[in-house]
Amino acid sequence: MNANLTSRKPPVIKTRCFTLRPFRNSDAPSIVSHINDRMIARNLLTVPYPYTVKDAHEWLRRVHNAARRKTVTWINFAIVIDGKAVGGIGIFRISGHKAEIGYWISRAYWGKGLMTRIIAEMVKFCFRELGLRRIYAFVFTHNKASMRVLEKNGFKLEGKLIKNVRKGDKLLDEYLFAKTR
Ligand SMILES: CC(C)(COP(=O)(O)OP(=O)(O)OC[C@H]1O[C@@H](n2cnc3c(N)ncnc32)[C@H](O)[C@@H]1OP(=O)(O)O)[C@@H](O)C(=O)NCCC(=O)NCCS
Repeated sequence: MNANLTSRKPPVIKTRCFTLRPFRNSDAPSIVSHINDRMIARNLLTVPYPYTVKDAHEWLRRVHNAARRKTVTWINFAIVIDGKAVGGIGIFRISGHKAEIGYWISRAYWGKGLMTRIIAEMVKFCFRELGLRRIYAFVFTHNKASMRVLEKNGFKLEGKLIKNVRKGDKLLDEYLFAKTR
């Protein structure tokens, strides 16, 4: 089955605690202030530390370009709390019935159950609105909090990939999690 993705603008998803909406260029300062954190960079493959306004604008340019493509392979939402973009969640490598999920949220909001609920909304969007059948995630083996939010959303551990990615000068192992319907 092919995902229902052509000429689709990601919706705005509002809940009592957060809003998921497309990123705006004006989010750049807030993104920088929240993502410029060694503890976030160590858990994400491509996020540099320190993270500058230039990095944010470059990333926003790539997000907007991806959204304009005829075949959508990448959909991103800003996580907005109290009017500020304090994190992001997206699906990547969208291909046919499946996609990879990735996410981060500012350290100021960790441990409040937020990402558990945000992933639940994203899963609903992917399965109900896009018609996907498989969502998968790669998690560094040290990232217990990320494994936990996936498990709490019914993702199953499928395996351990040894030296799967290079980050800086290190080759890192990853766990592969997936949820299917
Ligand atoms: C991973 C991340 C998204 C979690 O967000 P969050 O909003 O704090 O998550 P939640 O509060 O919904 O749930 C966190 C769970 O992890 C658990 N947890 C946190 N640190 C843990 C640790 N060191 N060991 C075991 N469990 C841990 C919490 O207890 C909680 O589980 P519980 O509800 O059963 O108690 C957030 O820490 C983050 O953005 N990290 C940096 C980026 C990142 O890792 N992205 C994912 C890449 S795969």
